[in-house]
Amino acid sequence: MKTTQLTHLAAVLSTLLVSTTLAAPAPQASLAEALAASGLEGLQITVNVAPAAPAAAAANVQAAGLADQVFALTSNNLVNAVPEQVTAAEAPFTPTGGLAGALGTFNFGINSATETICWNITLTNFQGEFASPALTATHIHEAALGASGPPRIAFPNPVPVPGAEGVMNSVGCQTGPFTTGIVVDGADTGAGFSVAAIEADPAAFFADVHSSLALPGAVRGQLA
Ligand SMILES: *[C@@H]1O[C@H](CO)[C@@H](O)[C@H](O)[C@H]1NC(C)=O
Repeated sequence: MKTTQLTHLAAVLSTLLVSTTLAAPAPQASLAEALAASGLEGLQITVNVAPAAPAAAAANVQAAGLADQVFALTSNNLVNAVPEQVTAAEAPFTPTGGLAGALGTFNFGINSATETICWNITLTNFQGEFASPALTATHIHEAALGASGPPRIAFPNPVPVPGAEGVMNSVGCQTGPFTTGIVVDGADTGAGFSVAAIEADPAAFFADVHSSLALPGAVRGQLA
């Protein structure tokens, strides 16, 4: 290779380095054109891709942090709901016996950073119709064991699982603000509710499902 060609190549490369530094990604077409123009199109050149600019790198770190929050749960709660835990809605909260023979498994996953709650609710031997003055008949209520209190979150009612007789299921995630459809003192009982309250004191909450055959509740289970 002649000295003039090498000088030309050095000039082309320095131009490329400058343009690569200023604007990513490296303009591949310009590289080919520049080499063709310089008569060096047969040459093998490896151009190292410049590392991401600091601002872009910071954005990636932020995005990774957000992904950690979005895909991480901050707590789990598995509740076995039984008829025996159901009480009357009004004091003195006498046990009603619920819907005999029915059982519920309420599996919750909470991400308090994103105000999200995910659920996998399975009911077996539920009878009657889902019945509640709330938006749905499947809830987390706020009250201690043996007492009753307002619903804070309403979940889609379970639906029959094909091929599994007597089994119903509801799976999903929802993100606040929450609405239950029950209004007390002019405000929805879900308004302003934060799932962090469940994490702070799970025993202050219970999950239940209401049936036309057991209006106060078919099955109920205290969170822990
Ligand atoms: C929900 O729970 C049921 C019963 O434990 C399980 O068979 C099913 O795979 C779960 N579904 C999801 C989506 O996790």
